[in-house]
Amino acid sequence: MNQTEARKRIEKLRREIEEHNRNYYVFNDPVISDFEYDLLINELETLEKQYPEFYSEESPTRHVGSDLTREFRQFEHKYPMLSLGNTYSIEEIRDFDSRVRKSVMGEISYVCELKFDGASISISYSGGSMEKALTRGDGTRGDDVTENITTIKSIPGRIGSDAVPASFIARGEILMPRSVFKELNEEREKEGLNLFANPRNAASGTLKILDPSLVAARKLDCLFYSLLGDDLPADNHYDNLKKLQEWGFPVSDSYRLCRNLDEIIGFIQFWETRRNDLPFDTDGVVIKVNSLDQQLQLGFTAKSPRWAIAYKYKPERALTKLLFVSYQVGRTGTVTPVANLEPVQLAGTTVKRASLHNADQISLLDLHEGDMVYVEKGGEIIPKIVGVDKASRSDTSMAISFIEECPECGTPLVRNEGEANHYCPNILHCPPQIKGRISHFISRRAMNIEGLGEETTDLLYTRGLIRNAADLYDLKAGELASLEGLGEKSASNIIRSIEDSRNVPYYRVLFALGIRHVGETVAKKISVRFRSIDKLISAGISEITEVEEIGPKIALSIKSYLNNPENIELINRLRSAGVQLESEAEEAATGNVLRGKNIVISGVFTKHTRDEYKEIIGKYGGRNVSSVSSSTSFILAGENMGPSKRAKAIELGIEIKNEEEFLKIIGEI
Ligand code: IVH
Repeated sequence: MNQTEARKRIEKLRREIEEHNRNYYVFNDPVISDFEYDLLINELETLEKQYPEFYSEESPTRHVGSDLTREFRQFEHKYPMLSLGNTYSIEEIRDFDSRVRKSVMGEISYVCELKFDGASISISYSGGSMEKALTRGDGTRGDDVTENITTIKSIPGRIGSDAVPASFIARGEILMPRSVFKELNEEREKEGLNLFANPRNAASGTLKILDPSLVAARKLDCLFYSLLGDDLPADNHYDNLKKLQEWGFPVSDSYRLCRNLDEIIGFIQFWETRRNDLPFDTDGVVIKVNSLDQQLQLGFTAKSPRWAIAYKYKPERALTKLLFVSYQVGRTGTVTPVANLEPVQLAGTTVKRASLHNADQISLLDLHEGDMVYVEKGGEIIPKIVGVDKASRSDTSMAISFIEECPECGTPLVRNEGEANHYCPNILHCPPQIKGRISHFISRRAMNIEGLGEETTDLLYTRGLIRNAADLYDLKAGELASLEGLGEKSASNIIRSIEDSRNVPYYRVLFALGIRHVGETVAKKISVRFRSIDKLISAGISEITEVEEIGPKIALSIKSYLNNPENIELINRLRSAGVQLESEAEEAATGNVLRGKNIVISGVFTKHTRDEYKEIIGKYGGRNVSSVSSSTSFILAGENMGPSKRAKAIELGIEIKNEEEFLKIIGEI
């Protein structure tokens, strides 16, 4: 590499790493694994050492990735919150030990701890009470998330013991237990929300929610790993950790005093597999010089302490045999290839299947029948195939080629230009698509029919009791009660909920039909212009495109849906069942529950957009106002509510209602 090439590469790496920092710390949505990120940082560090002429104070190797947002007040850290140098090699731990031994005098001991994978927090205490909780931020300043932190039950708000220093700082990692993460994602999946990739992202995303009651519901936890202050109880880290425990702070019992490299390596090996059985994710081990005096002598680099290092476990990888590739047809017709594998142990679980994403991924891996493949679990839930052991491939094995027909209904698959996925075009008669449409019809934001989960819907379909949404209205309690897992009580609850769905307003019925490209917002816009399904049926494409933000793609999709006689029959049966197919009735029933109310909207919402809320407020007789004043009736607050609005509301004693409370007022839930 010549100098120009090195400069270009350094610049590119810096840009890329900054982008990854934002994805990780601000959006909580990383696009590469920690391992891949560490490789980029490593490459940049090496190049910067080789080419000191391109030194820059701004380089991501010189500062920690920032999690600062504009939504919270920011405060300076009394002690900077740095990062840790890390390595994946025992050799480098040996080098670390030698460096330490060369730099300081006397006996050296280390404290080895698990490196918990969450979001770091720094909490100051004064007079034994919690004062302020700050995120790492940019290392110098952090976001003030005290209100959210007080919802975490395991973090002491007041210390019982009298023996605590007048002021001190406890630092730790905010974590989401794996079990809570699993439940949260299952819930989000049901509600059609984006899933969190791993517990760390869920924990740090949750810390930045602006409504503490929502944070409380997410059941976060915390483990502390450091005590700071001018007047500490002990002169070494180990005893200070003990004190933190005595004062009631949750500290993992796993920390150990190690006197030499062998004991450190022993600790690393001990946790290598056992860590999979812990309730929280860990990504390595932190090794810290125990004596605070020696820590002081060793000091810091720009980004991390010289007295500590993180040993990170490589993402676990296993080699196993590809048995066959199967294909799943999703509820919208998308066909996903799945690798079925000879069962193999990986990070504490048995892996039998791995996602292959799409046809391009299969070609990229150059996957052949019977290949030995490497599977990895990089903090994500679904394992992926990261490579193929080509040396062990037999000469006669055939390349895997993507199927041409739908495995569920035999229809030739379609792949549109520029799209990565294949899909089955047999929308009306392909079983998973039928079931998908029924599930969508039932879902909370559509007809909100309770008690009919995916399994029951599947069972009703398999038994031939439902073939489309209209069949739901012909179901009898007796038929439901006879299904496995359902008793008479749940059967009658389902029937009642189906009956109640007859009152669901027209715009939601329009959304519930599952017309391609007709989401909640589009359904609402259409229902305002065409106040009944009959008016929509007789409208032409050009009339439909006159509706604000409705283009030809949506209009065509609506027309093609309504031109299909089977869909018209479905609509007529829904009409006979008493489902709302016009909005006049809805308007009469609306009432004016918000009459005379001045409402400020702030934050980001999950059930409707801000514009929709503005419309809803008007529809129910209220007025949307932009700034908080004494005449504001209440604030409708979503996630990330503006801090100045919150402060003003508290000052003026104005009530803050969350999305759920608001939807209850207007009777939507
Ligand atoms: S000590 C100067 N100990 O890892 C930094 N950090 O990559 C001292 N972490 O920001 C940090 N477990 O959020 C320390 N036992 C542990 C830890 C730990 C997790 C996190 C922490 C820190 C990051 C550094």
